Amino acid sequence: MPLLELSKSLHDCQRCKLAKLGRSQVVFGVGNPHASVMFVGEAPGFHEDQQGEPFVGAAGKLLNDLLQSAGLSRSDIYIANVIKCRPPNNRDPEPDEVETCKPFLMQQIAMIHPKLVCTLGNWATQTLLERKVGITKVRGQVFYLKDFVLFPLLHPAAALHQGNMLEPLREDFKKLRAFLDRHSQPPPSEATTPAAPVFNIEPSQPAQMDLFGS
Ligand code: URA
Repeated sequence: MPLLELSKSLHDCQRCKLAKLGRSQVVFGVGNPHASVMFVGEAPGFHEDQQGEPFVGAAGKLLNDLLQSAGLSRSDIYIANVIKCRPPNNRDPEPDEVETCKPFLMQQIAMIHPKLVCTLGNWATQTLLERKVGITKVRGQVFYLKDFVLFPLLHPAAALHQGNMLEPLREDFKKLRAFLDRHSQPPPSEATTPAAPVFNIEPSQPAQMDLFGS
């Protein structure tokens, strides 16, 4: 099924209680459907719920700035959230909501087929790593998973709430830039229009370091 079909099929999703808890619309995701780099956040907030697009509020403005610092723009990437509907008062997602919505995130990832998935914050990182590990422990590290490489970053909203997180967040994006620079592929010489950057990143490398010691 193409991405657009999946998006349409979720348009009036009633699979979990969030459908009845004041969401205005399902926020599916946005960006380049052929992106090599995908970002995954937690859940839509007020502005995202109003506009139907992830990361358009204050955290989104900061994210745009951070993307630029990593040499990326929104047109290069795809952005989605773990859960597609705004939880009331921006509360944390509940386990049943994550369980219901995660298959759609996994389908998005399978359809876009990014080389690198950057998770923003604890929720997205734990959901995709399938481990209860704190973001402060794993941020800025590279995980070679079966189908893609995972790069966890602090969540921009954390820096909006705690000013002392801004510098660590900027460091995470510097590390991301260094990683992308190490893996960037020159555009094909016959290309006439600039395309989204392509990276030479392969999942599940044999010499993977086990960062969890298990
Ligand atoms: N925070 C998120 O995790 N996602 C959004 O779309 C906006 C803020």
